[in-house]
Amino acid sequence: MINHIYILIVILYPLYMGWDSSDLVRVTNHRLKQEATITQKAFDILKAKCNSCHMTEYERKVFTIENMSKSAKAIHKQVFLKKKMPKGDQIKLTEKEYKVLKEWLLELGVE
Ligand code: HEC
Repeated sequence: MINHIYILIVILYPLYMGWDSSDLVRVTNHRLKQEATITQKAFDILKAKCNSCHMTEYERKVFTIENMSKSAKAIHKQVFLKKKMPKGDQIKLTEKEYKVLKEWLLELGVE
């Protein structure tokens, strides 16, 4: 009997509250969209501030949206730990760009 009541509550409470699976879908989609946006934003920076030079000076590491996460650790090391990249003093990252890259790295669990 207790079990039946329990099951009824589990089923009826979400219905009563107006929850349905579309809420879950919405939350999940929102999360996926957020991740996609941060990756895209990070890529825009890599493209503008890193690839511009790597394309001619260091072809081995031209970042694409597909390969960038594989380089996340190396990017973290060069940009945040050693502060060697962006190389030289012509190209600089803004505070905002550092923040976006950091956020992207955190998303991948690199810190
Ligand atoms: C002005 C040229 C230039 C710019 C700008 C530049 N790089 Fe580089 N990068 C190089 C060169 C050249 C190398 C090869 C190693 C070296 O000379 O230090 C390199 C190497 C690297 C490596 C590999 C290091 C290793 O040995 O494992 C990473 C990772 C990297 N760059 C990330 C970046 C990122 C991220 C940016 C942008 C925020 C950036 N670089 C901007 C020229 C540049």
